[in-house]
Formats: sequence, structure tokens, C-alpha cells
Amino acid sequence: MERPDWKASLSAAFEHAVGYLHDLPERPVRARASLEELRADLGGPLPQRPLPPEQVVATLAAAAEPGVVASSSGRYFGFVVGGATPAALAADWLTSVWDQNAGLYVLGPAASVVEEVTAAWLVELLGLPAGSSAGFVTGGQMANVTGLAIAVREVLRRTGWDVDADGLWGAPQVRVIAGEERHGTIDRALRFLGMGTGSILAVPADGQGRMTVPAVAEALADGDRPTIVCVQAGNVNSGAVDPIGEICDLARRAGAWVHVDGAFGLWAAASPRLRSLLAGVERADSWAMDAHKWLNVPYDSGLVFCAHPAAHRAAMGVRASYLVHAEGDERDALEFNPEHSRRARGFPVYAAIRALGSAGIADLVEGSCALARRFADRLAAAGGVEVLNDVVLNQVLVRFRAADGDHDGHTRRILEVLQNDGTCWMSGTTWNGMAAARISVSNWSTDQEDVDRSVAAIMECAATAAAEATGTAGR
Ligand SMILES: Cc1ncc(COP(=O)(O)O)c(C=O)c1O
Repeated sequence: MERPDWKASLSAAFEHAVGYLHDLPERPVRARASLEELRADLGGPLPQRPLPPEQVVATLAAAAEPGVVASSSGRYFGFVVGGATPAALAADWLTSVWDQNAGLYVLGPAASVVEEVTAAWLVELLGLPAGSSAGFVTGGQMANVTGLAIAVREVLRRTGWDVDADGLWGAPQVRVIAGEERHGTIDRALRFLGMGTGSILAVPADGQGRMTVPAVAEALADGDRPTIVCVQAGNVNSGAVDPIGEICDLARRAGAWVHVDGAFGLWAAASPRLRSLLAGVERADSWAMDAHKWLNVPYDSGLVFCAHPAAHRAAMGVRASYLVHAEGDERDALEFNPEHSRRARGFPVYAAIRALGSAGIADLVEGSCALARRFADRLAAAGGVEVLNDVVLNQVLVRFRAADGDHDGHTRRILEVLQNDGTCWMSGTTWNGMAAARISVSNWSTDQEDVDRSVAAIMECAATAAAEATGTAGR
């Protein structure tokens, strides 16, 4: 067989990649191309004839690049999006080169051992119970699906019901106590699991979006049913953290399972300075977390942990005569995640941790929080800006005051102007009934200059929007 010219296509990709990364700090953060332009440049009839791989790479890069959002730039503050550290990105390339199917040990021993080692490192770093099991999933959504799948199976098993055999029809009804400010992926997970959002008993949140202990106590006292309590470490808008330890204690007394949605906030447990915010988090039963957010591992990379490894394996495991299952203590990853075949996504997580070390991860998390605080202070000092949340982590919510009193409209207009400007990127939300701009500092490379430049751009855009509103723009 003729050997493919790997060097040609990979060199084309490499040249494009380093060029892109070199320009990233100065590139406009938004995409430049319109939908029509992207369809025109990337579309066309079904290709009939082969094209050399290096040409495919070059034309793809040229056509796609104007439609790429610089979301791994230090001035991207939208949603909760991390970038990619150099070690994690390079390990992600190797993951593709090695192309391991990380389902079974026999399919990729190195991938299996790297996951085993990485899982143990993370359990130690986050202060979770020693021996907790871990699954490497696509993101927070699937981590919540997995954690809740284990939870519902286990709380029903304790009543004598066998979900594996009998499903949920006719089962004792499971109640899911969750805050009214929970993330939408909890509801979506419950839909996927056939439990429906009707299983949720929503607990009122305080002004920061946290469940309160008395409200959870009241919910737990309302009848005696198999119960899962979903707590949140890091509200997607405010960054607020539920009083996890106290809720765990209440739940334990009531025989309930506690699942922590800590997509980004659980990383605060890796910081000696911030860990007290999550006091008692180790007393929960399962935890969902993302590596593609605060650890800055390339997409897609989420993690689920469970304090009950036997329950975890029982909920996820699968057997087949053609599969070669582990006979000793080697790790078959399909015992811990819902996928069967999957990418060996442990490699980039391993590399990220190896490169940063626990000290570097603490610095990353604490540094992002300090920069979020700087954002809040500078914007508040600029005038006409109200910071709506207690900035406890990396999230800031701001609202812009309008001369005509239409603060919601003014805030939304400023976001439009800012997104077009391209210096930085953030989007809006509704917080306690008010329109707000949300700023999430989650990128490893963001520095004070990025924050100051962004604050200046925001205030210029605010002035532009104000001038437009009073009809004085361009005078
Ligand atoms: C608290 C919380 N849970 C879950 C998710 C979903 O994570 P993912 O988008 O990685 O699936 C997010 C995303 O921002 C989140 O903030």
C-alpha cells in the first residue's frame, strides 16, 4: 500500500494552527463572515471527485476562518467558555493521531491508564472522597445525565425497585429537589431519563440564585419518597454557590442522594482560598464538572464523579460476548460513561493538569476571580453601571442605566454595539427580572490588560448607544 503523505496535510493544518493562535490575541473576537457568506464559501454540490488532503485542509481553513469566533481568546467573556492551554491543545492533537477508542482497556491501554491516573488526581485535587469513580463525558450536560442516571437507579434500588429491568413505569415516584435557579441541563437530563420535569420540586432561590437551607428542609419534610437533591456550585449567571454542606447533611438524614452540578464552580474546590465556598461538597454522592470550562481543555470534555463506584458501574456498565472485558482491576471506561465507543478525552485533561500542577490550577481559578472582581470594580467606577451580583467567583452581571429610564433596552443595545465592535464578546441574560450583561472570566490567558481594554470598549459602546438614543450620534 502506498503510504499517505501525512506530512503534507498535517503541515498545512500546523501552519494554519500556529498562524491562528499567533493572531488570536489581536483578532476581533466576533466572527467576521455572515451566514450567507459562510454558506456560499463552504457549501456547493456534493463533491464528486477526490481532492488531495492538504488542499482540503487549506480550502477548509480559508473558508471557515472568517466564521470562527475567537472564543479561546483572552477577551471572550461569553457564556462560560474556556480556551485551550498549550499542553492540553497539543495532547488533544495526539488524541486524534492515536485515534484510540477509549471504551475498553484492550482497545487502548494507555488511554485507560491515563484516565485512571487523571481521575485519581482530580478526586484528590477537589477533595472528593478517596476512591470516588469518574467518567469522562462530553460536558456538563452529559455529566448531569450520568450522575442523575446513577442517582435514580440507586434511590429506587433502595426501595426494592429494579430500574434496569422494569424501567420507571410503575416505579415509586422519585422527587428531585432543585433550586429554581438550577441550570437547564438538569431539566434536560430528567427529560432524557424519562423522569420528566414534573419530578422536580423547585426550591425558591435567594437574590444571588442560591437555594436556602430552610427551603430545602421544608421540601425534604414534604412526604417520604425516594429523593434526589440537586445542588449547584456556580450559578451560570451570578456564580453563586448553594450552601452545599448543610444541604448534604439534611439530605443524608432524609436518606436522599445529593448530586452537585459544578460545571465550572466545582473547580473552586481546587483553590485553598476559595474552597470554603464549597464547604462540605465532599459529603455529596455525585458531581458533574467540565474540563472544557475552567481547566481550559479543548472541547469537548466533561467529568462525572461518584462516591459509590459500584452504583456508578452498575448504572453505566454493559456486557457483550464479543467485547473483551477487563478481567483484573484494569479500567474499562464504558463502565463509567453512557457512550460505548468514544474519544480518549483523558489525554488532554491529563496534560492540562500535568502542565499546571495543583498550584497552577489554584492560580488559574483565583486569577480569573480576581479579574472578574477587577471588571466589576472598574465598571462600577465608570458611572451609569450597576453590578447586580456578589462577585464570588468568575461571573459578573452588570446593567447599564439609561437617561430615559429604559435600562433593559439600553443594556441590550450596548451588548449589540459591543458584539459588533469585536474588542471583546459577552452576551446578555435576565437576572431578577432585569436585562443584564454577563461577563464570565474563564480563559487561562486573560490578563489585566484584557480586562482594562474591554472595560474601555464597553464604556465607549455605552456612550455610542446613549448618543444613538438621544439622537446625537455622529454630531
Ligand atoms: C451550572 C452549569 N451546569 C451545566 C452546564 C452545561 O455544561 P455543558 O455546556 O458543558 O454541557 C453549564 C454550562 O454553562 C453550567 O454553567
